[in-house]
Amino acid sequence: MPASESSLLQSWHHNAAAWIEAIRSASIESRQQVTDQAILLAVLSRQPERVLDLGCGEGWLLRALADRGINVVGVDGDASLVEAARAAGSSAVHVASYEALVETQVDIGSGYDLICANFALLHQDIIPLLAAMNALLAPGGALVIQTLHPWTAAAGDYQDGWREETFAGFKGQWQPMPWYFRTLSSWLNALDMAGFQLVSLQEPQHPQSPVPQSLLLMTAPRCSG
Ligand SMILES: C[S@@+](CC[C@H](N)C(=O)[O-])C[C@H]1O[C@@H](n2cnc3c(N)ncnc32)[C@H](O)[C@@H]1O
Repeated sequence: MPASESSLLQSWHHNAAAWIEAIRSASIESRQQVTDQAILLAVLSRQPERVLDLGCGEGWLLRALADRGINVVGVDGDASLVEAARAAGSSAVHVASYEALVETQVDIGSGYDLICANFALLHQDIIPLLAAMNALLAPGGALVIQTLHPWTAAAGDYQDGWREETFAGFKGQWQPMPWYFRTLSSWLNALDMAGFQLVSLQEPQHPQSPVPQSLLLMTAPRCSG
């Protein structure tokens, strides 16, 4: 794993407890006001029976989907977050790094109607992971990604590259997290290289905010032939 990618996952090992507290105390305003509902509605709009939550964290989305009768499986690279998800009631949650998923070292099942990744694709080389996810979808399945909106997150530098999240303004002890910024065209190119086509794109926004809170990409495997 390249150095930035391993320190990214390492930051989650360090930040797991603070992250669980931030999510469970509902302290991230953009999530409460806009993005939680946006990903939930996007997933439910496909009426999936079986969903994989990639990079599920402490599992809030697993619980929200299970409450609606959906069969959910989660996977995350941090064992503490997975343990928190299990302790909160999600039984099918695996510990695996994205690298391990690419190398099919961990069996997380297949035949998913939908795979979602909510603010969980933070590393540079996402194409092999997306291709590996493509292979886990049932026919007619979909991949839904919610991520930082590139135009909002660019902060005046609209070029692919590593950035650092310091979690300034969050309560608790945080280790800075390296993350890879990509432009909108880089997102679409990566999806294309992994065999996905864009089905629809949303820019979830709060009515009182001048900027979108996220970018939401609904994609499906590209038909061959
Ligand atoms: C911002 S959190 C989002 C968690 C969850 N999807 C949510 O909406 O609350 C990013 C998640 O990606 C996971 N992650 C980041 N890099 C990873 C990697 N290389 N392998 C596995 N998981 C990774 C982290 O452990 C963390 O749980």
